[in-house]
Amino acid sequence: MVSRVIPVDPFDLVIFGGTGDLARRKILPGLFRRYCSGQIPPQSQIIGAARGEHSADEFREMVAQAVREFGGGRACEDGTLDEFLTRIDYVTVDARGDTGWSELAGKVRKELVNAFYFSVGPGLFGDLAERLHRFDMADDESRIVVEKPFGRDLATAKALNASLAKHFDETQIYRIDHYLGKETVQNLMAVRFGNMLFEPLWNSQYIDHIQITVAETVGVGGRGGYYDKSGAMRDMVQNHLMQLLCLIAMEPPAKFDPDAVRDEKLKVIRALEPVLPHQIVRGQYGAGPDQPDYRTHVEDPSSKTESFVALKVAISNWRWAGTPFYLRTGKRLKARTSEITVVFKDAPHSIFGAEAGRHRNELRIRLQPNEGMTLDVTIKEPGPGGMRLVDVPLDMSFAEALGPEAADIPDAYERLIMDVIRGNQTLFMRGDEVEAAWAWTDPIIEGWQARGEVPKPYDSGSEGPTDAVAMIARDGRVWREIKL
Ligand code: BG6
Repeated sequence: MVSRVIPVDPFDLVIFGGTGDLARRKILPGLFRRYCSGQIPPQSQIIGAARGEHSADEFREMVAQAVREFGGGRACEDGTLDEFLTRIDYVTVDARGDTGWSELAGKVRKELVNAFYFSVGPGLFGDLAERLHRFDMADDESRIVVEKPFGRDLATAKALNASLAKHFDETQIYRIDHYLGKETVQNLMAVRFGNMLFEPLWNSQYIDHIQITVAETVGVGGRGGYYDKSGAMRDMVQNHLMQLLCLIAMEPPAKFDPDAVRDEKLKVIRALEPVLPHQIVRGQYGAGPDQPDYRTHVEDPSSKTESFVALKVAISNWRWAGTPFYLRTGKRLKARTSEITVVFKDAPHSIFGAEAGRHRNELRIRLQPNEGMTLDVTIKEPGPGGMRLVDVPLDMSFAEALGPEAADIPDAYERLIMDVIRGNQTLFMRGDEVEAAWAWTDPIIEGWQARGEVPKPYDSGSEGPTDAVAMIARDGRVWREIKL
């Protein structure tokens, strides 16, 4: 079946923080690409709202630049960009004062779908929610979109949820985790629940362990201020890796609808065992060839924030008791790759004898780049010399299997914003899910602080600290190499 673009209903979208980095890099170029594809009806309107004093024309120029820089090479000069810009407006708004709100209220057309994107720090979520009501801009149908970080611990996440819940129902709140918008992450559900092949084996009886790796080559760069207060545990594990873990481990939902899927994810998070100190390794990158070390990017020269985490996770339920999940993420690693590796158990008995060696099936799902799947299958090595066994990959690259169209998939943000307009919450985190994730994360971070733990150094361009290798080796297992 070829992909097809289903236009959404006409909408007015207000982007608070419309001149910020996320809006420039992701939200506005993403909207432009959806506009080019014909998914956004021309009568829709996108209103930037921020503190800066800009005219609508100045903002349009800013949008044009953002599209040229981050739009992914879509034809901008054929008139489509000019057309798109006629749908853009701007209002100077003070999130903590009353400036601009009446003007903004005058521009939002209530008869259309209304969405308000809070592309601002969480400290402003409550103020924005309150003013949307006070200035009579929000009703039961409007939607708000909020970004991570959704809190920095359970207490702050609860407070944020409470401040939003004062003005909006849970069905109106879209908490973004952009990993859920990635096509290959959604594909995890298709692979598991669309095939008969995998699900019967998808449990501790047949699976030895599962590895989830999200490796990045970038450092913290210009984001040192934010990152140093956060670290890999809050920035990546509590949200993105947790979501991957949930999709891999959850029970099949009865249907692909928002609450059915999110109920199952929540059960996984609630079944997570606490992580003991010897089951987790933190790291911080040192300098590499032409690369400064982590501490160069942050204010605190003796920062103890981790840019790498590797941990062993246990899920206490019938399906997974006895099968560990090893999670790993870090910056300035050897390659940018996100991959899930499912390592199956050995066959219970080898009819070929000990000399045939040890062979295991392994399923690897590559989330990015070169999205695809590989299944290692054991076969007989051809030729004489007895029954010699060898593992060979059944390798599938989605781009090769599905053709060039598969390579032109919408960016995560494009997909998610269109889901907001459609009113589909399946790929967004529910409040209780976020709180449960923090409830599991908090004791880990508190433990580090209480023990005054310092992250282990690792070389830029490596696979992380050697302690991470030792951690999995203690269980008689090895990490899959981080490589493209
Ligand atoms: C963000 C984190 O949420 O995800 C960043 O804050 C990280 O630190 C990024 O680099 C990774 O996203 P992606 O889509 O590049 O894998």
